[in-house]
Amino acid sequence: MTVTVTQPQVPTTAPAAPQAHERLRVTRQRPRWSELRELLQLRRPTLNPVERRLGAALSIGDLRTVAARTTPRAVFDYVDGAADAELTLRRNRDAFAAVDFVPDYLSPVDDPDLSTSVFGHEIAMPLIFAPTGYTRMMHHEGEAAVARVAARNGLPYTLSTVGTSTVEDVAAAAPEGENWFQLYLTRDERLNKELLDRALAAGFTTVVLTVDTPVAARHLKDIRNGLTIPPSLTPRTLLGMARCPSWTLNKLTTSPITFASLSGTMDGGAIDAVRVADVVFEPTLNYEHLAWLRANWPHHILVKGVLSPNNARRAVETGADGVVVSNHGGRQLDRTPATLSVLPAIREELGPDATVILDSGVMHGQDIIAAVALGADAVMIGRAYLYGLMAGGERGVDRAVSILREEYGRSLQLLGLGSTAAIERQHVRVP
Ligand code: FNR
Repeated sequence: MTVTVTQPQVPTTAPAAPQAHERLRVTRQRPRWSELRELLQLRRPTLNPVERRLGAALSIGDLRTVAARTTPRAVFDYVDGAADAELTLRRNRDAFAAVDFVPDYLSPVDDPDLSTSVFGHEIAMPLIFAPTGYTRMMHHEGEAAVARVAARNGLPYTLSTVGTSTVEDVAAAAPEGENWFQLYLTRDERLNKELLDRALAAGFTTVVLTVDTPVAARHLKDIRNGLTIPPSLTPRTLLGMARCPSWTLNKLTTSPITFASLSGTMDGGAIDAVRVADVVFEPTLNYEHLAWLRANWPHHILVKGVLSPNNARRAVETGADGVVVSNHGGRQLDRTPATLSVLPAIREELGPDATVILDSGVMHGQDIIAAVALGADAVMIGRAYLYGLMAGGERGVDRAVSILREEYGRSLQLLGLGSTAAIERQHVRVP
């Protein structure tokens, strides 16, 4: 059989260039200063280096980069790092990255309503500040600064039992704020009761009981860096501090770092990191402790560190009002699943009435949308605000919130959604 291949008709010659008289006429003029001035946009340079750095940060990742420059290596690694091989740390981020968004256009989204409610209380967006210990080590302004930003932005703030400011300090710094208290239940019932009484008297509304710390996990970076809390002065740490003169000066000229809520409660004395680990990591913690807490706390209780439907159900049956689906940001048991991947089953188990909050790996406004679509009432952030704090104190935390809010609001609009309430399961696809 003969096959005839026909060549496509390709012009063999290029079109003739236009003649001089056919060319487009461009009208020229002398450059005019009045028009140039508009284009030049000469802005006054920002002289304050902190403001300049924060203004240039467009994402939480940018704040992290600044934080790595402004904070001694050992302190930065303490925040940034995680347990063992840091597998869970990466899984958390990978799970968010794997979510597809399915937009739904043609509904008005001109002024999206970001607000939501947690425990019947309206908050500005589904974002809560997670408890982080030793916060004054990251930046001398510490917990008080974070609580002030939270209050200013209409968001709850959670103070850690191992915070470096007391419940009273936080209440004084953010009297209008919605302040929550994270509890490590210890063997010392008198201490537990005293902490709760102080939190109640200081106006704290919710207690978050952390349950994923039966023992301390190993953070290899901290061991290698020789990190102690407060940082001790070794040739290595001194070198790290010399790289960050502003951090060091602030540290030397502000009050020493202590486990503020615990100091004075424990035998009336100061408490160091070794003793704090003995106190807060409690291998015998069980449901009876939760029942004790229920009997001794009149407001809401959340159990933090839940990763299975069974654990979630039993926590609620024992008296909790909800759970924080959390793997401690990958800082406790490595190889736990990404929180986003276990969230739908936990929501299904608890039904619509229990409060379900998710944390671990939230670094972008779109992560908040993904979590809400898969069943969370709100998310908590830890490192995201600590990067801001290390990058620029209170102003840095403000920047972190404004970045997340902008990303969240814009992404809602791009999805075609006019409010947090409009986010539904159908707007995301997960592998
Ligand atoms: C924490 N986290 C924590 N959780 C808690 O219940 N009590 C605590 O004292 C601390 N301390 C702490 C210190 C630091 C430096 C970090 C980074 C985290 C865990 C925290 O509440 C939250 O679960 C995670 O931070 C969430 O993960 P992301 O947002 O950091 O990825």
